[in-house]
Amino acid sequence: MNIILLGAPGAGKGTQASKIAQKYNVLHISTGDIFRANIKGGTEIGKLAKSYIDAGKLVPDEVTCDIVEDRLQKDDVKGGYMLDGFPRNIFQAERLDKFAQIDLCLNIEVDEKLLMDRICGRRVCSCGQSYHVSTLGGATACAKCGGALYRRADDNPETVKARLDTYNSQTAPLIGYYKAQGKLKCVKSGEGSPDEVFAQIEEILDKQ
Ligand code: AP5
Ligand code: MG
Repeated sequence: MNIILLGAPGAGKGTQASKIAQKYNVLHISTGDIFRANIKGGTEIGKLAKSYIDAGKLVPDEVTCDIVEDRLQKDDVKGGYMLDGFPRNIFQAERLDKFAQIDLCLNIEVDEKLLMDRICGRRVCSCGQSYHVSTLGGATACAKCGGALYRRADDNPETVKARLDTYNSQTAPLIGYYKAQGKLKCVKSGEGSPDEVFAQIEEILDKQ
């Protein structure tokens, strides 16, 4: 099964992707994680991406689409994959339709009022696990691997505001795009805990 995870910044795409990957054994591919790994590694793609990410804007479509197209040619995607953060506008979605067969688009819906707190309170580990300060009880190490927790460079109020504007103007139209293709399923994550949100996702995936 090939899945797209759609949702605003902070909706819980990464949080749910870990749970889906664990239970359904589908590969998690996050374009944000790919860009951050490139920034850390000092590559040309990383240098280009950093200025866009810091400004809360989209990295240019051609670069992003080429990365995903290359990634989907590897053998490890054959058992199914989840795209987290791609596509992010209609251009990317149309390009994706040319090189991939998508079965389902899961749209994680959250009240925009909750997003600023969720993102600014997020702490992440280099192993991919993310937390919120409100549940960490002061811990500074990852419960999964012991790595040091840190705040993402783009998780500051000014950049988050720009990311939300980008989402509303460019990414939200994808909801209609996948609805028209009959692939859209909506999950409400406004008030539920991560486990409660995952229970809704399980209900959808178990029927596929
Ligand atoms: P990306 O890394 O994709 O960031 P994003 O879309 O802004 O989403 P986030 O990772 O911030 O949120 P999330 O939905 O994963 O939430 P999470 O699970 O962590 O992209 C970063 C940048 O890269 C973009 O701005 C852009 O510049 C560039 N980029 C990436 N893809 C691109 C593309 N296709 N084209 C062009 N540019 C691209 O959860 C957030 C917090 O909430 C955590 O603290 C978590 O613990 C908490 N939480 C999660 N679920 C719940 C819940 N149910 N209840 C309470 N708290 C919860
Ligand atoms: Mg994420």
